[in-house]
Amino acid sequence: MNNKYLRLGVNIDHVATIRNARGGIHPDPLKAAQVAYQAGADGITAHLREDRRHISDKDIARLIEDIGLPLNLEMAPTIEMLNIAIKHKPHACCLVPEKRQEVTTEGGLDIDSHYDRIKNCIEKLKENEIRVSLFIDPNKKYIEKAKELGADIVEIHTGTFAEIYNKNKNNYQQEIAKINDIANYAYDIGLEVHAGHGLNYETTEIISKISVLMELNIGHFIIGESVFDGLDCVIKRMRAIINNARK
Ligand code: PXP
Repeated sequence: MNNKYLRLGVNIDHVATIRNARGGIHPDPLKAAQVAYQAGADGITAHLREDRRHISDKDIARLIEDIGLPLNLEMAPTIEMLNIAIKHKPHACCLVPEKRQEVTTEGGLDIDSHYDRIKNCIEKLKENEIRVSLFIDPNKKYIEKAKELGADIVEIHTGTFAEIYNKNKNNYQQEIAKINDIANYAYDIGLEVHAGHGLNYETTEIISKISVLMELNIGHFIIGESVFDGLDCVIKRMRAIINNARK
């Protein structure tokens, strides 16, 4: 199996983080989404957190109305978020774990501990024709649970791989082999497979070689690097790295 095209979803949360630092309207995540669209992104990802620390409810409404790209809404599997998703009907929802004190999404969903809650969320989202993705650590047991629960997609958390690579560029092979095995297993049992978290140009190049992956979701690095090179330029470079890796 070799998907030639790997989609790039651009996570714009941290445009909102910068905006919120001053409590005003600039920089606007919607404008970032429009630039991402022009630069060749295939989708926009935004995480509506319980504490609204970056993306707001109004941002979600504006993104749904105005961008010409599919919106992947990341959300915790709660009733509040479920109602928001059903109201706005994004293209897809990615269910993620959420802890108030965490700096970012620290790990994948603990499906065992929240089985019924996640099941209910998946059922309701699918009834509303919203595709459902589960953000999981690279572990076979979670792939099986995702399938059993009727998820359409699994997004594999690449944070550990990225962290290992950034500490020591010669030491990542074991973690990437694990992600490769898990991604292939998920693909073989009929799930669409995405990946993301902590990726930069180098780790994106490595992970893009896993041919069963259909989509990468990348945020913090893209927005951070845009300070130096501009959002349009960074997205185009990321897109070129992905395309090259798939040749
Ligand atoms: N995918 C998911 C499910 C996430 O929660 C995040 C972070 O919000 C990302 C991808 C993007 O991670 P990063 O901002 O580290 O690129």
